[in-house]
Amino acid sequence: MEWQADGRCLRLLDQRLLPAEERWIEVRSRAHAAEAIRSMAVRGAPAIGMAAAYGMALAAFSGEDLGEADAELRGARPTAVNLAAALDRLRGLTAPEDILAEAQTIEADERAMNLAIAEAGATLLPAGAHVLTICNTGAIATAGVGTALGIIRAGWSKGLIRHVWACETRPRLQGARLTAWELMQEEIPFSLIADSAAAFLMAQGRVSVVIAGADRIAANGDSANKIGTYMLAVAAHRHGIPFWIAAPRSTIDPASPTGEGFVIEERAPEEITQFEGCLLAPPGAPAYNPAFDVTPGSLISAIITESGAHTGPYEFGGIAPSGQGKSALGIPG
Ligand code: MRU
Repeated sequence: MEWQADGRCLRLLDQRLLPAEERWIEVRSRAHAAEAIRSMAVRGAPAIGMAAAYGMALAAFSGEDLGEADAELRGARPTAVNLAAALDRLRGLTAPEDILAEAQTIEADERAMNLAIAEAGATLLPAGAHVLTICNTGAIATAGVGTALGIIRAGWSKGLIRHVWACETRPRLQGARLTAWELMQEEIPFSLIADSAAAFLMAQGRVSVVIAGADRIAANGDSANKIGTYMLAVAAHRHGIPFWIAAPRSTIDPASPTGEGFVIEERAPEEITQFEGCLLAPPGAPAYNPAFDVTPGSLISAIITESGAHTGPYEFGGIAPSGQGKSALGIPG
């Protein structure tokens, strides 16, 4: 995303159209910003937090009621804590210039955190790693190199990664449409797989580590992420494969002791029964479409933040967590 100072507008690469079309949309009001978040023109936990912060700047420049703007943007998508965390950082600011400056600081902070996460994660990768990932956690979901995908990028540049397995990520296909698009640009060798192929690859010994992002992390490490992440963690556990979550500390929600109380976004059934207007199921077939699931902290080998790799039992409730070294993770060399 790009803030265009002269036009007081937020330019967003419309993620709904990728990879078929690279079209930028110009967001000039907070209502449009909220709609872009709801409709997933912009998506990914850090990116929606940044878009909401710029949405507040747009509201302030238009002289709108900031309380109403905050409520609308905060409610646009419920699961990613980064959205609320970004808006919390703007609380108490009223001058448009101050809100814009803080939104830009949030973006700069996210970019720096991505680099630190990428570096912390990449140093833990075994040589010749086959990494399996889900959803899209790359540059378009964040401000920088990405979280899980940032580790993959850094690992590739260090010569540690042999292959990436990208889950297609039904129903919105963030893996097939967006992660594949980013990996191709970076020329990182990968194969798309149907989500349902992951456990079979693990059983064949073709996965060294699973790395996923997160939308909300509870104090005990329970992590909400794209639907399908939990079953990857279960399968990885069954096969003795490390399962990592990569996320900035802005994704930690210390107010949630566990993931039990997380609000899980439920999206339209048509995301499952149709694709771009084409019926995939009999007309009227009922469908249930939770957009996220929760992986228990006990199944997560490491949570990698900008302060390093943390291993369980996780205690993110009080003092800011501090990083730990490679030896704690039990990763084969
Ligand atoms: O519904 P989405 O596409 O916004 O879901 C995104 C994810 O689940 C990502 O893994 C998460 O937000 C981390 S992005 C760095």
